[in-house]
Amino acid sequence: MDYNQLSFQLAAVTRHAGQFIRQEAATFNRSHIETKGVHDLVSYVDKETEKLLVAGLREVLPEAGFITEEGTEGANRAEGYNWIIDPLDGTTNFVHGLPVYCVSVGLIHHDELVAGVVYEVVRDECFRAAKGAGAFCNEIPIHVTDVPDLNSSLIATGFPYTDFGKMDDYLQLLGAFMRRSHGVRRVGSAAADLAYVAAGRFEGFFEFNLNSYDVAAGILLVREAGGRVTQFLEDGDPLFGRQVVASNGLVHDEMQSTIREFWKE
Ligand code: IPD
Ligand code: CA
Ligand code: CA
Repeated sequence: MDYNQLSFQLAAVTRHAGQFIRQEAATFNRSHIETKGVHDLVSYVDKETEKLLVAGLREVLPEAGFITEEGTEGANRAEGYNWIIDPLDGTTNFVHGLPVYCVSVGLIHHDELVAGVVYEVVRDECFRAAKGAGAFCNEIPIHVTDVPDLNSSLIATGFPYTDFGKMDDYLQLLGAFMRRSHGVRRVGSAAADLAYVAAGRFEGFFEFNLNSYDVAAGILLVREAGGRVTQFLEDGDPLFGRQVVASNGLVHDEMQSTIREFWKE
């Protein structure tokens, strides 16, 4: 399978879905908001975008199954290839009119990531990666930075917003990163955070309670851009591990040792 070629087709489907989101943003209002749980928002835009993606990707790779955030496909995992879809990453930003939200789609073969696209809708930036073929933003190659230490790094994170059980550990950790880096940012889209590490806008990103659809495409982007992605304390695969530390590689050990100081499993 030519994963680079496949990622071009994925990018086209993802851009098309992003155009739908852009069009709906013009008329979206808060009466369209539904809730999935405490502070966990969703809307018809998330669900319709997911349906568009599924329909488009079925044509690209008919034998592939789907792991989707909104479950519009039901349980539909296949043996070999599976698309991992977050139709709208940054829903809270979207419903508040804050212009940072993405379409994020990764492709796995068994458990290995082989293609991924994060399309940032408002900036019209398409981040594309394929296994062994590199990472690109609007077809320009991207690379992580060569900043060597945390002290000179800009770090992204995601704040807990539904599960506050680890709040004390998290706030300690946040304080440590604030003291030890150039600064900490909360963009509101994990897919954008990872794409920005790949593009050299952040040196690192960490967040817990993430799902595979938040991170699938972004993990491959960071790796193909020369960076490293692990779980918080171990080097285990972060895709289904719910915790992610992503970095330019050079500041990874310092990030993990900072986490180790404050994070109790
Ligand atoms: C969320 C965003 C956010 C992160 C959350 C995710 P959603 O995804 O990626 O940045 O902090 O953990 O759930 O709900 O907007 O698709
Ligand atoms: Ca998400
Ligand atoms: Ca989402």
